[in-house]
Amino acid sequence: RGTPRFKMAVRSGALSVAPILTNLQKDCATPLPVLRHVADAMEADMLAGLAVDGGSDLKMILSYVDSLPSGNEKGLFYALDLGGTNFRVLRVQLGGKEERVIATEFEQVSIPQDLMFGTSEKLFDFIASGLAEFALKEGGKFHLPPGRLREIGFTFSFPVKQTSIDSGILIKWTKGFAVSGTAGRDVVACLNEAMKRQGVNMRVSALVNDAVGTLAGARYWDNDIMVAVILGTGTNACYVERLDAIPKLQGQISSNGKTIINTEWGAFSTGLPLTVYDREMDDASINPGEQIFEKTISGMYLGEIVRRVLLKMAKDGDLFGSSFPEKLATPFVLSTPDICAMQQDNSSDLQAVGSILYDVAGVEANLRARKIVVEVCDTIVKRGGRLAGAGIVGILQKMEEDSKGLIFGKRTVVAMDGGLYENYPQYRGYLQDAVTELLGSDISKNVVIEHSKDGSGIGAALLAAANSKYEHDF
Ligand code: GLC
Repeated sequence: RGTPRFKMAVRSGALSVAPILTNLQKDCATPLPVLRHVADAMEADMLAGLAVDGGSDLKMILSYVDSLPSGNEKGLFYALDLGGTNFRVLRVQLGGKEERVIATEFEQVSIPQDLMFGTSEKLFDFIASGLAEFALKEGGKFHLPPGRLREIGFTFSFPVKQTSIDSGILIKWTKGFAVSGTAGRDVVACLNEAMKRQGVNMRVSALVNDAVGTLAGARYWDNDIMVAVILGTGTNACYVERLDAIPKLQGQISSNGKTIINTEWGAFSTGLPLTVYDREMDDASINPGEQIFEKTISGMYLGEIVRRVLLKMAKDGDLFGSSFPEKLATPFVLSTPDICAMQQDNSSDLQAVGSILYDVAGVEANLRARKIVVEVCDTIVKRGGRLAGAGIVGILQKMEEDSKGLIFGKRTVVAMDGGLYENYPQYRGYLQDAVTELLGSDISKNVVIEHSKDGSGIGAALLAAANSKYEHDF
């Protein structure tokens, strides 16, 4: 391979990496009592967030979704999904109970990096023009009766204070977005203005979080879905709640109906086993002190935590012998897909691990170093997966407490979506282990964790249908 492509510094006096690894494993440990503490804290924080606005880290946001898809939805609906590195547009022709989904089509566009740090107008113009282009290609099995506006479900995966099913104010950006001029504004108004500028005439009939969209989409097929969890770039969970179990509503809604609560659990922080690497990453982030659960368990951050550990091992220890790959000092050079790929390497010489380290850090790692690197990845991923599992149990516990047996005494399904869950087998395994350990094997047999791929797009379209301004007569 010749000379490494990246700069190396040589330093002396390196120590063994063993104590660094041991300390890391100790600080990241999630034995059953730690998991139990986290699950209980999640439950307590949920109750506090339902009691009053600002009552806990968990915002427990009302979604204004008060009826879940029934299967009777009919007609042509669009969905627009903004939440991470991509934005997606989708159309679906719904055919009612018998025919269900007659046709769907979607397109995905990656969001240019500069738009994540630009102005609100620029970002929304980009989205609206993507939507306009997509709408032009409508044809085939898609059909809109004359005289009707196209209706859209807008999945906007950031913390929004909903003011109705079709309006809501952005509280703050998360997941590395730092767009100016959106926080404090109604994001549906932002989209409407951009659609006007782009000459698109559509009506946003539902504004939903991705977790809420996933729950609605999964519920279309399965009545036992009670919770939805996103484990992707960011993380979140929502669940079905009784209106009369939400004290902060103060009787505003006097019905015994149900709604979906968006927990925004990414902001949870109680009792988490954190390390010096987590604290340093948080300090250096654009939102220090915020989204601590998200920073510990979600896809945007796992690779970065590993990078920080490896940097320490290379700087203060002898991980890569006497050389220190300077490229490893660049934040976010090691991604979660990288550490996932390294953990899938079953070869005896960990060849794939070696080449990934060479590619991202420009370092020739020997077998001993490769093994240590895999162990570091596993430590961080194990903690993340197990804590996510404890969070899920916290939500189920809260629901069980209220309904006495309706959750644990029958089949209850948690719909999961997001690239981290979908693509990282070890993470999935650790998550399931934690759920089983916490609930015991009898109860956990009733709790099914199901991958609901891309459910949030269809879910948003279904909620647009449920909140259509037209009669469902076609
Ligand atoms: C972040 C957002 C939240 C979203 C989650 C998953 O935590 O704040 O709204 O649901 O990411 O995309």
